Amino acid sequence: MEILQNVHSYLAYIVLAVLIIAVVNAFLGWLGKKEFKFEKDLRISLFALILSHIQLLVGLILYFVSANGLNALQEFGMGGLNSAARLLALEHPVTNILAIAFITIGWSRHKKTNDDTTKFKRIALLYGAGLVLILSRIPWGQWL
Ligand code: HEM
Repeated sequence: MEILQNVHSYLAYIVLAVLIIAVVNAFLGWLGKKEFKFEKDLRISLFALILSHIQLLVGLILYFVSANGLNALQEFGMGGLNSAARLLALEHPVTNILAIAFITIGWSRHKKTNDDTTKFKRIALLYGAGLVLILSRIPWGQWL
């Protein structure tokens, strides 16, 4: 349980770093009308997709085993949670599931076009939206 919290906590740095790189790379490729390269662009976006899915999996398990996840919600009810507790038990999980859905849609939509600029655009916008959502609901205070 504590090991899962540590994994989720440390993996968060890597996931966020790679996601930021993927989003910046996609915007540069889109606005610079660059060629979408297998070795670089596809790998960066795939790496960001895989890492966020691993984080999703760890987060989902945490949600069910941690005292700060579902257990807090069941014990105190919606009204009994202060804003910090509600962030962990509700807002962070729900927002991040949605964010990772956006990222996954970005990945699958980029494959459905042969136009390189459109590939970059889809990744930039959908991964970008996912990243903004994730950043909006990080428990910064207890993490950093
Ligand atoms: C990319 C996606 C995600 C990122 C970057 C992320 C990041 C974080 C961070 C930084 C913390 C605080 C860790 C600490 O206290 O040191 C945290 C806690 C937590 N996260 Fe996530 N998370 C993500 C997705 C999810 C998802 C999808 C779920 C559940 C479905 C989830 C469930 C939780 C729970 C329950 C905690 C509280 C753990 C505890 O205090 O026991 N996370 N997350």
